[in-house]
Amino acid sequence: MARALVKTHIRGFDDDVLRGGIPQGHVILIRGASGTMKSSLAYYVLYHNALAGVPGLYVTLEQSAGSLLEHVASLGLKATSVSEALPILDLSRGREHLEEMVAKVGAMTEATASRDQALLAVLKGKILELRKKRNFELLALDSWDALELVLEFRDRRVETFGFFEWLRDLGVTSLLISEEPPLEGRTTALEEEFLADGILHLRLEPVTDVAYQRRVQCVKMRSVNQDSDDRTLLFENGRFEVARAIG
Ligand SMILES: Nc1ncnc2c1ncn2[C@@H]1O[C@H](COP(=O)(O)OP(=O)(O)O)[C@@H](O)[C@H]1O
Ligand SMILES: [Mg+2]
Repeated sequence: MARALVKTHIRGFDDDVLRGGIPQGHVILIRGASGTMKSSLAYYVLYHNALAGVPGLYVTLEQSAGSLLEHVASLGLKATSVSEALPILDLSRGREHLEEMVAKVGAMTEATASRDQALLAVLKGKILELRKKRNFELLALDSWDALELVLEFRDRRVETFGFFEWLRDLGVTSLLISEEPPLEGRTTALEEEFLADGILHLRLEPVTDVAYQRRVQCVKMRSVNQDSDDRTLLFENGRFEVARAIG
């Protein structure tokens, strides 16, 4: 049976690029350099789904909830109209915040060998609790890089794999925000790239010596014959929209 499709509500993207939407349950990487509107786009997808009756959860580790809300308000999105259907889990104080939660629930008494495992257990526990309580179907994690820093993965390969498995078992569609790794010193694909079911790549592309254009490319989307051509990404009047990029 074909999976249900989750709409991104980005004009021109769902039908033309994704052939309907993101297959439900997929783990998607939203990758790009700083300022390419990764957070804006992830929030936008969850926001429009919340408006359409599909609840979400936005986990922010890089930016405080206040700063995120201020930013999306500047984009013209009315977060207050979806505060019930789209709560924000603010872990922007990172490790400190999670340590407090560990202390509160006493997660160290569980079968957790280390402090980092306790942190991860608490984070997962909190997300599971919200999943039970709110039954959210979309999860944004902003960002994967920040989470990695907080958790101090010892074995990146194994722990990344474990986390992706856990996300899939959660049964929600996940958007993981991920910073562009610098090109130099990069020899192989990162674990998360081959573990992800889909990758959306955001870029600021120079079009002349001085002018830049926002671009989005669906690099990968498992079980979808997606259109991988570059699209220009526009944001106007509170709406993301894509148009064919002219080469
Ligand atoms: N009203 C707006 N319309 C279009 N772009 C905006 C608007 N407000 C801010 N931006 C852009 O959003 C960018 C920041 O978006 P953000 O989602 O935080 O990026 P990232 O998460 O990739 O670092 C800013 O660099 C700015 O160019
Ligand atoms: Mg961001």
